[in-house]
Amino acid sequence: MSADVTVIEHPLIDALLTQIRSVDTGCHTFRINLHTISRLMAFEITRDLPSREIEITTPLATASGSELVRSVVMIPIMRAGTGMLNGIIDIIPDAKVGHIGMARDEATCLPTTYYCKLPEGINEADVLLIDPMLATGHSAAAAASLVKEHGGRNIRFVCLVACPEGIEHFCGEHPDIPVYTASIDKELDEKSYIIPGLGDAGDRYFDTE
Ligand code: URA
Repeated sequence: MSADVTVIEHPLIDALLTQIRSVDTGCHTFRINLHTISRLMAFEITRDLPSREIEITTPLATASGSELVRSVVMIPIMRAGTGMLNGIIDIIPDAKVGHIGMARDEATCLPTTYYCKLPEGINEADVLLIDPMLATGHSAAAAASLVKEHGGRNIRFVCLVACPEGIEHFCGEHPDIPVYTASIDKELDEKSYIIPGLGDAGDRYFDTE
């Protein structure tokens, strides 16, 4: 299996990610940094979205410019995916947003879907499926299957931190979906947390325990 994984390397992203990995970083900085990293990543991830030339009229003259060929649909996997969404939406303000709620059974570590609301026209859109932590890959793979069942075709998976186990599972189930991450960490622990990782991304973003 050849995994289509891109690690987005940038000194700003690396420095911000290092800060939010630290146990000493509080919720306020965690939120701001997650938003900024997500925005910087999205800038790179969307670089090759197809666009076409259009003519517009300025107050003074006509001019040629461009527009995206397809609409963009962003789908955060709740809860933590909404943190990355909040960073990205600023640079794609026209995007439609769907939500998928996945809960992890703490005993089996397998996902169950508790919510799914996806916008119309997903089959014609460029879809960003978003979840900060690609840990076992089970939630992400199940969410990607749901998106495909609803007609999604041009899907990109966006995470902050991945690990080899998650990449293997996700890319094994969905070899057609490219994965974008800011880091590939070492491994999973026995509770399926990414090591070194950053802990529970949802708890750290929402300041819960
Ligand atoms: N989910 C998280 O929030 N963190 C991990 O390390 C793994 C899954």
